[in-house]
Amino acid sequence: MSEEKASVTLPDGKVIELPVVEGSEQEKAIDISALRSQTGYITLDPGYGNTGSCDSAITFIDGEKGILRYRGYKIEDLAEQSSFLETSYLLINGKLPTAAELQSFEDKIRIHTLLHEDVKSFYDGFPRDAHPMSILASVVISLSSFYQNEEGSPEEVSYLNSIRLMAKLPTIAAWAYKKSVGHPFTYPDNDRSYSENLLYMMFGLPVERFEVDPLIVEVLDTLLILHADHEQNCSTSTVRIVRSSGVNLFAAIASGICALWGWRHGGANQRVIEMLTHIQEDGGDVKKYIEMAKDKESGFRLMGFGHRVYKNHDPRASVIRKKCEQVLAKLNSNDPTLDIARKLEDAALNDDYFKERNLYPNVDFYSGILYRAMNIPVNAFTVMFALGRLPGWIAHAKEYTEDPKNRIGRPRQVYTGNVERAYTPIAER
Ligand code: ACO
Repeated sequence: MSEEKASVTLPDGKVIELPVVEGSEQEKAIDISALRSQTGYITLDPGYGNTGSCDSAITFIDGEKGILRYRGYKIEDLAEQSSFLETSYLLINGKLPTAAELQSFEDKIRIHTLLHEDVKSFYDGFPRDAHPMSILASVVISLSSFYQNEEGSPEEVSYLNSIRLMAKLPTIAAWAYKKSVGHPFTYPDNDRSYSENLLYMMFGLPVERFEVDPLIVEVLDTLLILHADHEQNCSTSTVRIVRSSGVNLFAAIASGICALWGWRHGGANQRVIEMLTHIQEDGGDVKKYIEMAKDKESGFRLMGFGHRVYKNHDPRASVIRKKCEQVLAKLNSNDPTLDIARKLEDAALNDDYFKERNLYPNVDFYSGILYRAMNIPVNAFTVMFALGRLPGWIAHAKEYTEDPKNRIGRPRQVYTGNVERAYTPIAER
């Protein structure tokens, strides 16, 4: 807590002083936690654009400068030098692991990759065209019924469940894909790395050897790192608030998966590729779609553009764009949507509407093109995002649980409904 105070003058002339809190990157906040008890007032901030819900030591974002760091490490360095499991360890445990710690973390995850055999039958109940996000959320919450009454302290149980989630989410996701194409489920092969195993379970078949280009494995691992955390976004805040009621980790993570699904959040990556494909099939007239996005009556937004926090550039998008160019060049792929994406980006970045509103490509703008190059089906793009975001959700659930100041998340409201009125019996209405 800094020595500074903020003064607020209330409508009746009363002045109150509120403490100012300063974060480790000199971000300042006015602590209003005693405001209501002192004055009767609450604050109103629809969409929480100005509201800090917690202290957090996990991820730092400076949206004006386009900075993203996990536990102090630059996202560009992690994307270049780390692995997804090492980054997951960093997020969850707060420090980079030693070689022995990483080995032990990887080993623990490796031995939990199988799903209980009874879970397999759940997949029979889903329709063939079920969206994989609905399967992912449903199977994750169902895991809580397999791991009840575990022995150990709450911390030990949560840690074991974190490992289970990290280990099993790729299996759950891959089987959702297998269900959609009617292929037999592929069991995990624990000799493979995390990302390779995911691709193996998605695309491996019992009738042939599975081989995958190491570049694809590397790029998938990088994509998972880029998605691994993003401080108090919609799904992470959901995980924290759901966890705050005292539910188990499976329930909190399942709720995060549901929150991620929407088009304003993780679901945007599916919408981006659908939009790019549509523009291409419509003749590739990028200008027409730029004009539509500017017209509020059209109901159309440029998917993959804009961000609540980034007002300069999304550093994840810059890494992904570079990878995209490399991968498509190496695979000799001529994906026409990349061309549409480049044109759309250039047109938007040179247009006053987008410039004035600081609308830049976000992480989802180019990720879909990469997923497509890996043959990931379009409706599974958001599932890939969820796999990447999992360690961030776990880290936030852990941080919340270990915070001695934690309370149930319970915002207030300004009521605008009817004032008290007399009940009219139905016969008199
Ligand atoms: N296309 C056209 N106009 C846009 C776009 C867009 N993609 N995004 C924002 N705007 C405009 C809004 O119409 C508004 O204009 P106005 O000031 O004239 O009314 C202004 O920019 C501010 O937009 P808001 O919706 O108020 O910004 P907010 O911070 O609430 O929303 C969001 C951010 C949801 C990401 C928004 O930019 C959007 O809808 N983008 C498209 C969907 C998307 O890509 N989502 C993924 C986000 S990244 C992630 O979650 C992983």
